[in-house]
Amino acid sequence: MVASLLLHLLCCLTVFWLLLLPSLSADPDPLQDFCVANLSGSLSVNGFPCKPASEVTSDDFFFDGFMEEGNTTNRFASSLTPANVLTFPGLNTLGIAMNRVDIAPGGINPPHSHPRASEVGVVIEGKLLVGFVTTNNVFYSKVLTAGHMFIVPRGLVHFQLNVGEGKALAFTAFNSHLPGAAVVPLNLFASSIPNEVLTTTLQVDADVIDTIRSKFKS
Ligand code: GLV
Ligand code: MN
Repeated sequence: MVASLLLHLLCCLTVFWLLLLPSLSADPDPLQDFCVANLSGSLSVNGFPCKPASEVTSDDFFFDGFMEEGNTTNRFASSLTPANVLTFPGLNTLGIAMNRVDIAPGGINPPHSHPRASEVGVVIEGKLLVGFVTTNNVFYSKVLTAGHMFIVPRGLVHFQLNVGEGKALAFTAFNSHLPGAAVVPLNLFASSIPNEVLTTTLQVDADVIDTIRSKFKS
C-alpha cells in the first residue's frame, strides 16, 4: 500500500518536472551543418562522446598549436590555425574555440561566415581592415592595429584584409567548440554548384564564371 502510494507520488513529481522543463530550457544549438535523423538510433549529445575521466591528463587541457606562424603562401596570402574541438579535444562541449590568423601584406582572410558562433578578435600585430555585412546589406568596417578588438555577430559575412606594410597577426574566439566556416568565394566557385545558378544569380556570361572558377581550382 505504502509502496504504491510512493510510486504514485513519484509519477506525479516526474510529470510535474516534465511539464516545467520546456519553459526552463531550450534545444541545444546544433553543432553540425545538418543531421538527418536515424529514427531507430539511440539518443545522442550535441558533441563528441567523452573520454573516460581515468584517461584524462593535463595535456588534454593545453594546446601549443598557436606558437608557430601560419604558412601564408597560398592564394589568399593568409592562414588560419584553428583551436576547435577537432584540434583541441579538451574544448568538447565547452562552447568555445579560437583561431590564430596570420595575413601577409596584401593578403586577406576572405569573406566568410560562421554558422554556429559569434566571433570576437584582437589584433596583435599589423594593420587590418576588418569588416562585416548585415542581413540588410549594411557594411561596417574599421582599420585596426595592435590592441584593437572587433566583434562579428553570429552568421554574418566578414573578412580581414591586411592593409599594412608588414605581416598581420590576430587571434579570434568563438562561442562554439566547432564554429564552422562557410567561405563565400569557395562556396560559390570551388563547389559543384551548377554554372547556370551562378550565371543567373550574378547576371554574367558563362565565360566570366569559368574564369573565376579557374582561380579556385586546387
Ligand atoms: C576570422 O574571421 C576568423 O574566423 O578567425
Ligand atoms: Mn571569422
